[in-house]
Amino acid sequence: MTLPPAWASQQLGEFLTAVSSFETEASAGLRAVERVAEALDAEVAAIVSRGKLVAAVGYPAGATPVAELDAVARGVSRELAVPGVGVCPAARAPLEHPPDATLVLARSGPRSLSAEETSVLRGMARVTSMTMRTLALLSDERALREEQAALRRVAVLVARGVPQNEIFAAVAQEASRLACAELVQIHRYDKDGSSVAVAVWGSEDLEVGVRSPKGQDNIRTTVLRTGRTARRDDVVGSPIVVDGRLWGVLIAATIRPGRMPPEAEARIAGFTELVATAISNAQTRAELAASRARVVAASDETRRRIERDLHDGTQQRLVALALLLHSAADAIPAELPGLRVQLSHAEEELQGLLDEVREIARGLHPAILSKGGLVPALGALARRSSLPVQLDVRAPEPLPEPVEVAAYYAISEALTNAAKHANASAAHVALEARNGRLHVQVRDDGVGGADPARGSGIVSLCDRVEALGGTIVVSSPPGEGTSMVVELPIRPRPGIDVTS
Ligand SMILES: Nc1ncnc2c1ncn2[C@@H]1O[C@H](COP(=O)(O)OP(=O)(O)OP(=O)(O)O)[C@@H](O)[C@H]1O
Ligand SMILES: [Mg+2]
Repeated sequence: MTLPPAWASQQLGEFLTAVSSFETEASAGLRAVERVAEALDAEVAAIVSRGKLVAAVGYPAGATPVAELDAVARGVSRELAVPGVGVCPAARAPLEHPPDATLVLARSGPRSLSAEETSVLRGMARVTSMTMRTLALLSDERALREEQAALRRVAVLVARGVPQNEIFAAVAQEASRLACAELVQIHRYDKDGSSVAVAVWGSEDLEVGVRSPKGQDNIRTTVLRTGRTARRDDVVGSPIVVDGRLWGVLIAATIRPGRMPPEAEARIAGFTELVATAISNAQTRAELAASRARVVAASDETRRRIERDLHDGTQQRLVALALLLHSAADAIPAELPGLRVQLSHAEEELQGLLDEVREIARGLHPAILSKGGLVPALGALARRSSLPVQLDVRAPEPLPEPVEVAAYYAISEALTNAAKHANASAAHVALEARNGRLHVQVRDDGVGGADPARGSGIVSLCDRVEALGGTIVVSSPPGEGTSMVVELPIRPRPGIDVTS
């Protein structure tokens, strides 16, 4: 057969257009074999790579003779049985991609490929290789981007400190998508070797919280025994190691045999690290919160004790002494006026001392809070302040005691600071309970420049406020006054779940 002039260029041009418009390697491969068969008048065409079929045309579905195609690909055979025709001469051209792949074709009739046809076949093989390699790279890149986006989504949850069960559930869902696994579970190992499901995605016969006994012949047991990633057919288990200790396992499985990608292990490993970080963070946070709460509680207790001692001991004795002095003064004979004056001075001194002790006792622990609640306590604070204080208090419901105490201390400290350091003309206190949080702001119009590093008042407030899950922000630009904003959750969040 004589081919028209420029046939080869036209074939290659059309081939390039047809094959390069596909989006996946598989569809480009299929299109390539179709076009090769068409252009070279072949009954069958196929791509085989390392003994496996990549694409083929000309065979009934499911009846592609892979071993025979592979024999031609490896140069062992030069013939192929063509359905409905019989044995025909075969030709082949190597592909650079997929790895070790070959393009194989067979056509009926005695003619073998002409030199021009052979060169077109090689050209088509090159275009196919390039297209499939590009598509493979693009798909790798897309997978990487998806993986990173999924990891980032979980990392944001970890950084925000959301409860662990939410993180576990998000990890199970994301890992399922990335590892092409319909079933994902996270189990926590217990000391006796049993395990508890903490996240379940895709399985209906297992629920979070269900315990599995130890020693079963499964991937959980293998990972517990070896501490390493394990794979059994279509199930992959990846260990979750927290602070050097095997904490649990993330298991991904597919119900479609053979569909678990080889890189599934690597993909889920990124998630197990995030799970470990989330657990480790929560433990650190819980320990930190507990230690801060202990510090605050201990200092409250000390203040209460000092206040009680002052009130029941020192103050009572001072009162008794004042009475004693008073009656002694009464008993002084009229001819000793000097002594009477002296005693009355002593009485005044004592009275002053008594007032001071009362003031100290009152400032130590806001006893007034337990009597009348926050609003009257703030009224008393404002009246005692040496600065004019404007109060704007909106707290309709009774607040939990730790929240009231923290708000009281914050306002008391800010007002004391305003009076002591700010050279201010006035202060303003706003307090409002809104959306489950107590918002407190204390402003003064003084010199600004507050610096927590220079004292202990603001720093210990931070401990108190943050121990309750609240936040505190002090802004104090020089020359522009000082504002302290405290926000406290009115009901503490359900305790951070620190699983062993
Ligand atoms: N309202 C304010 N205006 C100007 N400066 C302030 C104000 N509040 C605090 N400061 C400055 O910031 C420093 C830190 O305040 P902080 O309350 O932590 O400690 P303190 O008041 O010095 O001591 P303490 O509160 O422990 O008795 C103060 O020493 C002061 O210099
Ligand atoms: Mg202070």
